Amino acid sequence: MSDGLEDVVAADTVLSEVDGKAGHLIIRGRTLDELAGRTSFEDLVQLLFQGFFEDLPTQIGPALGAARAEVFAEVSALDTGLLDRTPIEAMRALTARLADGDDLEVALRLTAAPAVFTAAVVRSQAGEAPVAPDPTLSHAADILRMIKGRVPTQSEATALDTYLVTVSDHGLNASTFAARVIASTQSDLYGALAGAIASLKGTLHGGANEAVMAMLLEAGTEAGLETLMRTKLAARERIMGFGHRVYMHKPDPRAMLMKEALERLTKEKSELQLFKLCETGERFMKQEKGLYPNLDYYAAPVFYLLGIPIPLFTPVFLAARTAGISAHVMEQHAHNRLFRPRVLYKGPRNLHPPEKH
Ligand code: ACO
Repeated sequence: MSDGLEDVVAADTVLSEVDGKAGHLIIRGRTLDELAGRTSFEDLVQLLFQGFFEDLPTQIGPALGAARAEVFAEVSALDTGLLDRTPIEAMRALTARLADGDDLEVALRLTAAPAVFTAAVVRSQAGEAPVAPDPTLSHAADILRMIKGRVPTQSEATALDTYLVTVSDHGLNASTFAARVIASTQSDLYGALAGAIASLKGTLHGGANEAVMAMLLEAGTEAGLETLMRTKLAARERIMGFGHRVYMHKPDPRAMLMKEALERLTKEKSELQLFKLCETGERFMKQEKGLYPNLDYYAAPVFYLLGIPIPLFTPVFLAARTAGISAHVMEQHAHNRLFRPRVLYKGPRNLHPPEKH
């Protein structure tokens, strides 16, 4: 028995390898360093989807742009009931309206949906009209434009594009595994994605980025952050944005890329204090607990500087990860065997049945 299935190999994949010992991530045969900042999110989706769809175009940008425009039609279903929910909950409900299936069109609509829906939800909650997608823009630039209502600068769009590529796929993480388990019953892509969204929402997984930003804002200063972290550790609380099941003794390479992106952004926006604050937290946690930052620790302040509202942090994570999850579902369908592990029964075996009266 392995608690949390630690180190258990549960599936074969050609999509990505997370090498925790070396601190490397390989996606479709390329290291993350070769991809992030050099390959667009659109090209990465093309790479992830290769071999799973016969009609895959060589340039996926126009098709993804068209998919954003199509799913925007569903935004009209945002009613007051949904606007009272958190963005990820409202987005999950809107996604349920999309048609299901296993073809490229469905995969692209599901990949486009989180980007379009989360922007629409947050604007509607603020009493503003949702901004329709611009299919001619890159996915990253359009996400920021739909959220903020203005076309982002080149460097803002590049920072988000680097993030989307960095998190697009990551081995058999909790949400991807949830999706593959659902897919293994021959359930469809949407069903698998709905389960994955629920898994990603939790604070031990995709929900951590929102908690990281709340902590950084509460702390305010470097001394304040050390005090806050010390208090949390004394109360045996987890510090969000630190630790990882696979990258235990090496830094999470995704966190290091986001740290570089943060340094660039803080210089451009004269917010170097935020970078220093984060570095203080990183140093403190290494010293006190021997823990490295994970992706979310440095992604959260990057989102913050890009003007993405905190309740959208997890939905934006989903906007990137949907590509990888969709590819994993297709891969599961292509070489399927039902997931059906055993459970170790630890209850009594020899109780007498209750007496009849
Ligand atoms: N803060 C404080 N202590 C921690 C943290 C943390 N963030 N992470 C691990 N530890 C400690 C545990 O208390 C435990 O110590 P102990 O042995 O003295 O009790 C030890 O490190 C091992 O922890 P586990 O829970 O066994 O490690 P696991 O592999 O199950 O946890 C996880 C991985 C869930 C990511 C964990 O590090 C955590 O809770 N981190 C905070 C949440 C977070 O940032 N999640 C985002 C993950 S990345 C992503 O999903 C994109």
